[in-house]
Amino acid sequence: MTSIPDAKAPAAEVVLEAISLTKHFPVRRKLRDLFSHRKDAVHAVDDVNLTLRRGQVVALVGESGSGKSTIARLLAQLYPRTSGDIRLHGETTKVKGGAAFRRYCSQVQMIFQDPFASLNPTHTIRYHLTRSLKIHGNAGKTAEDLDRALIELLERVQLTPPERYLDKFPHELSGGQRQRVAIARALGARPEALLADEPVSMLDVSIRLGVLNLLRDLRDRLNLAILYITHDIASARYFADQTMVMYAGRMVEGGDSETVTQSPAHPYTRLLIDSAPDPDRLAGTSDAEGEDAGNGEPPSLIHPPAGCRFHPRCPFAMERCRTELPVPLEIGDAPGHWAACWLYDQNEKAEVAQ
Ligand SMILES: Nc1ncnc2c1ncn2[C@@H]1O[C@H](COP(=O)(O)OP(=O)(O)OP(=O)(O)O)[C@@H](O)[C@H]1O
Ligand SMILES: [Mg+2]
Repeated sequence: MTSIPDAKAPAAEVVLEAISLTKHFPVRRKLRDLFSHRKDAVHAVDDVNLTLRRGQVVALVGESGSGKSTIARLLAQLYPRTSGDIRLHGETTKVKGGAAFRRYCSQVQMIFQDPFASLNPTHTIRYHLTRSLKIHGNAGKTAEDLDRALIELLERVQLTPPERYLDKFPHELSGGQRQRVAIARALGARPEALLADEPVSMLDVSIRLGVLNLLRDLRDRLNLAILYITHDIASARYFADQTMVMYAGRMVEGGDSETVTQSPAHPYTRLLIDSAPDPDRLAGTSDAEGEDAGNGEPPSLIHPPAGCRFHPRCPFAMERCRTELPVPLEIGDAPGHWAACWLYDQNEKAEVAQ
């Protein structure tokens, strides 16, 4: 894959990188398959490049099943990768459980969609946070040190006064408060990167913004690198510095969030934006050409379409899209804006112009 520089490349230190990251899940074989040589696999993530930098949020957007959570789990080292590399501060990571995994986790923490499922209902908030601080060696030496660290964690996620929350059980808190506890627990590791997999999609709409603002505050105050996974491309514009769009296991577009959401280049990104309500676009500016693309289903990931995986749904599909895998091409309207789409090939443009 050709690499295209990020818009903010010189500005911030790289924390975590995925390089040609690929994950195929083997499909369980049926008895009749034993006599054939077929080895099917779900192509969940293919050749993905992603860079997380200090003090920046990268949004990963795509429809259900496009491979977003798989990328987060790979980056959290919860799955072994099929191929490709994950680099932490430029170093290849080889994590196979035990001490190496714990060391990695103290730098890269994950926040899940459902804060209720991720907290143990039989334990208090004090227990959850103490455990995180102790596992990662941040509990200090004395009981006072621990108390101070607990209070600091709760204050950081704006659960104040902290004493009111420490001895509560998860079920005694609201969804938003529980997600704040899950974030505080992640912060107990003093991480450099947070991987947030749909952190607000299970929360009531009215409290989503508060949790996103909290994450933004942490980005700025703690200089965290944040991966924000979402279905909601409108929230990516609001919250993320960079936005990457995924379709059927592959990255199709990336760039700064304002450009990707306001001048989307890939036909799939345009489809996503046209199907998402955005108050700024209520004036009916949607691209009439792109509207038919709403028909159709996401492709099989066991036998993904050849060429561009979006071609069966794409209203602009050309012959080469059916056979040739598109490479990332610079769009040219903003630094670092790219799309993996043959429409942006200079040769193609020249042919259209003739
Ligand atoms: N452990 C697994 N074993 C086999 N297939 C899996 C596994 N986990 C995910 N998949 C498949 O990989 C593909 C990508 O799944 P993933 O959960 O990453 O998508 P997603 O983009 O997070 O979707 P959603 O928005 O619904 O959360 C899906 O087709 C899914 O069925
Ligand atoms: Mg998911």
